[in-house]
Amino acid sequence: MDTAAGLPFETGVRPEDWPEGGPRPFQTPWGEYALHAHDGRFVAAPAWCPHMHGPLWEGTRHEGELVCPWHGWRYSLEGGHCTWTPAGEEEGCADRALALLQVVTGPEGTLHILPPPQTSESR
Ligand code: FES
Repeated sequence: MDTAAGLPFETGVRPEDWPEGGPRPFQTPWGEYALHAHDGRFVAAPAWCPHMHGPLWEGTRHEGELVCPWHGWRYSLEGGHCTWTPAGEEEGCADRALALLQVVTGPEGTLHILPPPQTSESR
């Protein structure tokens, strides 16, 4: 495992400088992630949609969910699970979820994306 993969990723973005529409995705040691302001905090979600790799980071918001701009699949910003597709569950919505990462404010006041939790397979 890359040494940087176990450390928080420093985005350089301060919460007070949050750009309208959110910042562009960051290349982190765990892939491309985008920050989303949600429910008084920030969360990092994969930049690309698990359906067909659409630009999820450019998606819109709907009641606490992230809506992919390509086919409209919706993902919860609480747990990452897919909540809705225009065509219904038979397309595989229930089998797909976003691996959300926690975001904290570092000592210098910028947002840091925390590494994914370690699983027994990744140790
Ligand atoms: S690529 Fe995102 S909904 Fe299809």
